[in-house]
Amino acid sequence: MDADLDEVLQAVAEAARPRASQGRTPSYIESLAHADQDSFAIAVVEMDGTEHAVGDADQPVAIQSISKVFTLALAMQAADGAEGVAEELWRRVGVEPSGDPYNSLVQLERERGVPRNPMINAGALVVDDVLLDHRSDAPEAVVELLSQLAGEPVTIDDLVRQETAESASRNRAIAHLMASFGNLTHTVDEVLDAYLHQCAAAITTRQLARAIRFLGNDGVDPATGRTVLEPERARRVAALMLTCGTYDSAGQFAFDVGFPCKSGVSGAIVGIVRHRFGVCVWSPPLEESGNSLAGHVALHELAQRLDLWTH
Ligand code: DON
Repeated sequence: MDADLDEVLQAVAEAARPRASQGRTPSYIESLAHADQDSFAIAVVEMDGTEHAVGDADQPVAIQSISKVFTLALAMQAADGAEGVAEELWRRVGVEPSGDPYNSLVQLERERGVPRNPMINAGALVVDDVLLDHRSDAPEAVVELLSQLAGEPVTIDDLVRQETAESASRNRAIAHLMASFGNLTHTVDEVLDAYLHQCAAAITTRQLARAIRFLGNDGVDPATGRTVLEPERARRVAALMLTCGTYDSAGQFAFDVGFPCKSGVSGAIVGIVRHRFGVCVWSPPLEESGNSLAGHVALHELAQRLDLWTH
């Protein structure tokens, strides 16, 4: 790794930060709507544990949709322990980009309740439904996994949990629509409860950069040597991040950034550069697809400055 990575991150932050003013914080979750538009952080954690950070990298933020990567990892762990789970999962959720907003209902009606992929809200709800079959502690399991991978306790932000629940009409509608097609086995309330819980995990930019590394390390947590996922399954989660992790901007992200990324509506985006590092950037204002605007710029700058093309 370049010795001057700290300088690179400084330059990336300088280039990206001013772009935040062109984005907008989401209006449907109160605390996100009023988030400080000037907050900015970028953290890179190398596989050997060396950490580099600029900005507010130790401020906890709600993980929101980035949690979908970790619940998918847990569902795939369940698939390792029980035959037929992977087959069931990939029958009930697809692996194609949606081309629609992350909370859209339109495709679900046309495609008989089978979500396009696990990174949109509908897909994450099906993943939670599968997970609930195997882990009765599913809502806590994701927080436990995040804590293990971050190397520090991750907690739930009760206010975000409550606000996300208050603005969950659309997610509830998605769950009901899927249930009407027979694509949920638990009640809408049970599935929604797990989903709302995972979205409210409060985690810092630095912790997310640490936690995502296992996907760039053949499924093994580099901090502990523990296998989280089999290499083939880790590769598949990364592939879904690349093709679907930033929703309707996934093509633009592949074009500009080139490595797998996953965004959350709180303005965080995680990325993985295989066998090199985990990265996380955070800036609350979003572009129209729901990804951090300055975060996108920062990851583009990072890829260019470090020549990170993976394909
Ligand atoms: O379900 C929702 O709408 C939010 N709790 C999470 C969505 C999200 O993070 C989309 N990402 N950009």
